Amino acid sequence: MYKGFYHLTRNPFEITPDPSFLFATKKHNEALASLYYGVRRRKGFVVLTGEVGTGKTLLVRCLLALLNQARVSYAYVFNPRLSPKEFLEYIAGDFGLPATGKTKGELLLSLGTYLIGRHQKNLTTVLVVDEAHYLSTELLEEIRLLTNLETPQAKLLQILLVGQPELDEKLDSTDLRQLKQRIALRSHLHPLTLDETAGYIYRRLQIAGHPTPAELLPMETIVEVHQQSRGYPRLINTLCENALICGYASRSQTITPEMIAEIAADFRLNVVRPSRAAQAGSEAHAAEVERAARTLLELYASLRKAQELEPDLRMTVAAGARKHEPFI
Ligand SMILES: Nc1ncnc2c1ncn2[C@@H]1O[C@H](COP(=O)(O)OP(=O)(O)OP(=O)(O)O)[C@@H](O)[C@H]1O
Ligand SMILES: [Mg+2]
Repeated sequence: MYKGFYHLTRNPFEITPDPSFLFATKKHNEALASLYYGVRRRKGFVVLTGEVGTGKTLLVRCLLALLNQARVSYAYVFNPRLSPKEFLEYIAGDFGLPATGKTKGELLLSLGTYLIGRHQKNLTTVLVVDEAHYLSTELLEEIRLLTNLETPQAKLLQILLVGQPELDEKLDSTDLRQLKQRIALRSHLHPLTLDETAGYIYRRLQIAGHPTPAELLPMETIVEVHQQSRGYPRLINTLCENALICGYASRSQTITPEMIAEIAADFRLNVVRPSRAAQAGSEAHAAEVERAARTLLELYASLRKAQELEPDLRMTVAAGARKHEPFI
């Protein structure tokens, strides 16, 4: 709609993760290098985490493009809310193996044979699981068992788990400590800094063919975008995309900070209500504090009583009471 008005050849702020738009921040670069290295060196287990909309799926797509060039075969699971059997069926199918009507044992057997065959030809095979924070403990345990497919020298299947920070919490649970110990490499993505936000926006506009990005979005507008989006790339895209629509509607060749602030307010970007789980957690915490305070009061009352009955306790109680004064 606004492309002609802004002399753009394509839409610069699509929210789909398109590798051709990759802006290689230091962190994104390091993470991509680490994933690629982990897979090519057959390290076994690699984990990538990051908050919502920080570019994890984009990096996975960049990695898969690199793996295609290197003749690495992969199965890519992007919705892991599956039962263990469905999961095995899915990855066997993605590797091109017959999967329907097989028992779990048969699926594991054909997967093992396939992996050994590839290993004998010195070829790497990868399993990538995106949105891995949705994996059940049962499925994570099943994935750990897949890492047992190995020769004395190397893992036959390289596994990359990608997910939001809840994945780290899952991996920290005692039930999954065996899996956690097998992780060879870990990377974490962060939101963008102000400088990175400027580079990110200008790079996207350049790729989309804008002749003078700094005139379209001057630095004071970028500062507002960074503040409102807190550096999360997906939110940056949403703000900028809508700013271009507004700018076009008002025939403006420059996007102002006020336009960004208005869009952020429309999208309620500064309204964040804690999740039910977090709310339940803080309510539980408040109840615990209240219980502790009540116990202290009871303790204090019983010490006062003991002091009246037993004058020798006077000194001890006085000292104790002073110590606990702030609580009472
Ligand atoms: N370094 C980057 N360069 C270019 N675009 C990026 C970068 N990081 C993120 N983006 C863009 O931000 C948007 C969100 O990225 P992506 O979908 O990869 O996030 P995610 O971390 O997988 O989010 P979620 O946790 O919701 O799955 C996409 O449009 C993506 O292209
Ligand atoms: Mg994603």
